[in-house]
Amino acid sequence: MPIKTTSKIWHNGKLIPWEQATIHVMSHVIHYGSSVFEGIRCYAQPQGSAVFRLPEHMQRMLDSAKIYRMEIPYTLDELCAAVVELIEANGVAPCYIRPITLRGYGEIGVSPTGSPIEVYIANFPWGKYIPGKGGADVCISSWNRMAPNTMPTLAKASSNYMNSQLIHMEAEINGYAEGIGLDVNGLVSEGSGENIFIVRNGVLYTPPLANSALSGITRDSVLTIARHLGLTVVEQPLPREMLYIADEVFFTGTAAEVQPIRSIDRILVGDGNTGETTRQIADEFFAIANGLKPDRFGWLTPVKVNAGEAVKA
Ligand SMILES: Cc1ncc(COP(=O)(O)O)c(C=O)c1O
Repeated sequence: MPIKTTSKIWHNGKLIPWEQATIHVMSHVIHYGSSVFEGIRCYAQPQGSAVFRLPEHMQRMLDSAKIYRMEIPYTLDELCAAVVELIEANGVAPCYIRPITLRGYGEIGVSPTGSPIEVYIANFPWGKYIPGKGGADVCISSWNRMAPNTMPTLAKASSNYMNSQLIHMEAEINGYAEGIGLDVNGLVSEGSGENIFIVRNGVLYTPPLANSALSGITRDSVLTIARHLGLTVVEQPLPREMLYIADEVFFTGTAAEVQPIRSIDRILVGDGNTGETTRQIADEFFAIANGLKPDRFGWLTPVKVNAGEAVKA
């Protein structure tokens, strides 16, 4: 998907022109994958716009950095304020926000400690992530997610996305919209860039984080919404074949939002139509994100930019 540029990027406390947000080819991150990042969405509201779960995303970036011993010289509040400042300066909403913390130009060699920490935040328009209308046709990947004690999946580290790229490219080449990774024991983990949920006999299931899944903010939002709707929610390890016999399956993620799945390995999920539970959860999610229902869980940070598109009920 081509990037639609905006005017400014936030870099270490200052707004700089988009074209000047460049790094040296000898930066540590280029050679050793040393960066952690976030993906956040800002949604259109009836008046203005609002960032969805901004502090939770920024806290996750701080957590990811802590795991990799990267010291970010900004507080949670400063990082959140930077996002609001940037969106208002660029005047672009709805939008996707991409904060990234990286090890810059300093030293060569695996040891990262002699290379400076750089923090950048960009925002730009970004629509639907998984193409097509209705449910997505997906497959189970021949690639596993990272084994525990290799690459920590609670860190949203750029290097983890080499694994995601293998899963996603294999799926695409074989004509699927996305691939699902199993963990090292063959249990369901997550999509290349999404968490996964199953509905069976009225119960909502999702794998626990220990199955090599990212601690998705949308995952948490869906768990909260589902409990609020009175659904039974179970976080438990799921064998692969649960996906084939589920009544409903959907992905969650900031980019993918709540994305119904129509088929897995060419086996139809239920009757192939988006199920009632998926629809109920998706409706509630978008109604809150778009300010059409009260922000009852305190998930929205308002920004003073009038959205370039009307909110859809
Ligand atoms: C591997 C992976 N799992 C899950 C998710 C969903 O996380 P979130 O809902 O916080 O965007 C993402 C997206 O960031 C991801 O890249």
